Amino acid sequence: MRKLLNIFPSKNSIYALLASFLFALIFAGCRGGTSEKPPIHLNPNMDSQKKYKAQAHSNFFINSSTMRMPVAGTVARGDLRENAAFYTGKNTAGNEITSNALDITTALLARGEERYEIYCTPCHNSNGDGKGLIIEKGMLPPPNFMDDKVKNFTDGYIFGVISNGVRTMPSYRHQISVRDRWAIVAHLRKMQSAPKGE
Ligand code: HEC
Repeated sequence: MRKLLNIFPSKNSIYALLASFLFALIFAGCRGGTSEKPPIHLNPNMDSQKKYKAQAHSNFFINSSTMRMPVAGTVARGDLRENAAFYTGKNTAGNEITSNALDITTALLARGEERYEIYCTPCHNSNGDGKGLIIEKGMLPPPNFMDDKVKNFTDGYIFGVISNGVRTMPSYRHQISVRDRWAIVAHLRKMQSAPKGE
């Protein structure tokens, strides 16, 4: 009989149950409410600090702009681009350079082929004939790299095409580093002199 009675909760456990119910109710009451104040943040850990954010308004600087221009005549470390031909594909006179800005090595060619397969193949095809995947998707076909027209382009011009895009071809300057662009140019030249599959 005693055992049977044990299934009824004791007084203490009823209190505990009631307390936790009340607790849940209080917290539930806070849900969905909006507040101008930041949420309770028990361990701030320097999470919020006074700082300027990019593009934000500034009361301190006279032109109200938080972002500052570099001091005139200075160059940030690593940004000195003395070698115009390497960075633009053009010499100081503004003419496209005729040969690659880098020495052609097997390592450079290997890198160029790898990058070409990643960035150019979808449109220009692995063998450079311009019959990449995009044609099936309705894009206008790119030119065949084996055409005399492309063969007669200077290396500097092709570097410029990758960097700036041309007509319907987008620019790849943000995806492909300057060095890798030259590596791709070297690979393209190699394809033209020894076409794949021939
Ligand atoms: C999204 C597709 C696409 C990708 C990716 C692409 N191209 Fe092109 N490319 C084109 C198209 C389309 C044209 C033809 C543009 C035109 O004449 O309107 C073209 C043209 C060219 C030309 C000829 C430019 C001229 O003046 O006739 C060269 C060279 C070239 N691409 C090189 C490359 C190289 C190298 C890569 C890889 C870094 C690459 N393209 C990546 C679509 C692409």
